[in-house]
Amino acid sequence: MKNLTNEFQKVFEPHDNVHTFFAPGRINLIGEHTDYNGGHVFPAAISFGTYAVGKKRNDTLFRFYSMNFPETGIIECDLNDLRYNDQHSWANYPKGMIQYIREAGFSIPYGADILFYGDIPNSAGLSSSASIEMVTGVFLEKIFELRIDRVNMVKIGQKVENDYLGVNSGIMDQFAIGMGKKDNAILLNCQSLDYSYAPIKLEDYSIIIINTNKQRTLAGSKYNERRQECEQALADLQTELPISSFGELSVEKFEAYQNIIKNPVHRRRAKHAVTENARTLEAMRELRKGNLYSFGELMNASHQSLRDDYEVTGLELDTIAESAWRQKGVIGARMTGAGFGGCAIAIVENDKIDTFKRNVNKAYQQTVGYEATFYTASISDGAKMTEE
Ligand code: GLA
Repeated sequence: MKNLTNEFQKVFEPHDNVHTFFAPGRINLIGEHTDYNGGHVFPAAISFGTYAVGKKRNDTLFRFYSMNFPETGIIECDLNDLRYNDQHSWANYPKGMIQYIREAGFSIPYGADILFYGDIPNSAGLSSSASIEMVTGVFLEKIFELRIDRVNMVKIGQKVENDYLGVNSGIMDQFAIGMGKKDNAILLNCQSLDYSYAPIKLEDYSIIIINTNKQRTLAGSKYNERRQECEQALADLQTELPISSFGELSVEKFEAYQNIIKNPVHRRRAKHAVTENARTLEAMRELRKGNLYSFGELMNASHQSLRDDYEVTGLELDTIAESAWRQKGVIGARMTGAGFGGCAIAIVENDKIDTFKRNVNKAYQQTVGYEATFYTASISDGAKMTEE
């Protein structure tokens, strides 16, 4: 933390009254591609995340600097022109938050100097973008003395993705990052936004995050394509069923009506959305009963559905999940996040973790040609100020 303050003083100017904020990244235990389909998700905030150190200015200038992208230098903009600008690269995330928080009726009369530093691995699908949005949100809330209801801030973050940056993502990432709680995952109904916390007490087990290290170039467009396929499947079903999302359908009802969906590809996408929602609710029940093994089996089934019906896994994630399933001491493994690369997670017995990493990495290298990276997840609190 001291280093970040020092760095702030070096990049901008010496100042006593700087504050430091942190917003985590997230993993999702189960409930993938269900958020924008009106289903449930079960994510948790993790200890990797984004720090923001900054202070208010007396004029209307905003100056942003990221220690992760020193080559872009200080990016400046005026409070009166917060429009998206290609040249502002990563700084469009904080700019979007400032713009939409103001549009939501909050008063931001001055600019600010903000330094960012993130330790979320690059393009790993652990939500670095939602993390920078939410850290900007809590920063602005504190220095401009705003009172933003946290769920409202979460919705503003999603709006930045959808309307400012043009990524049609759901609400899971901002919700997990804004509402996270140490040692708890969040069961969220993405239709009603009702949520509850579930303690994750794994005792002899840990959650291991496995990064495919695959660069995800087409992720955005494929993501939007899946959304469209689901919308078309839903429109077909709506010709006979009075539903507003897949979250309202039981697996049985879906099976009875699935043939109304004309396109077989769309039918498989819908099948995933419906069965994944059911698996997520079941996983939560099993976890509450302490049945970690059943929870793990549901994680595996989730991966298979994402692989076969939703088709968002690919060679890298499949190699990791399938080799993880073969290892001793593994309770369950699946991709996490949007897919198409990014990360997988596995629940692994503590004294088998070293062998697990060695074996999975070996299989990965043999099939994919380069190494995966392994981290132990620790589940942390949501976005907040880190010091007074
Ligand atoms: C990305 C999106 C989320 C969610 C997941 C898939 O992380 O940002 O809204 O749709 O993919 O579950």
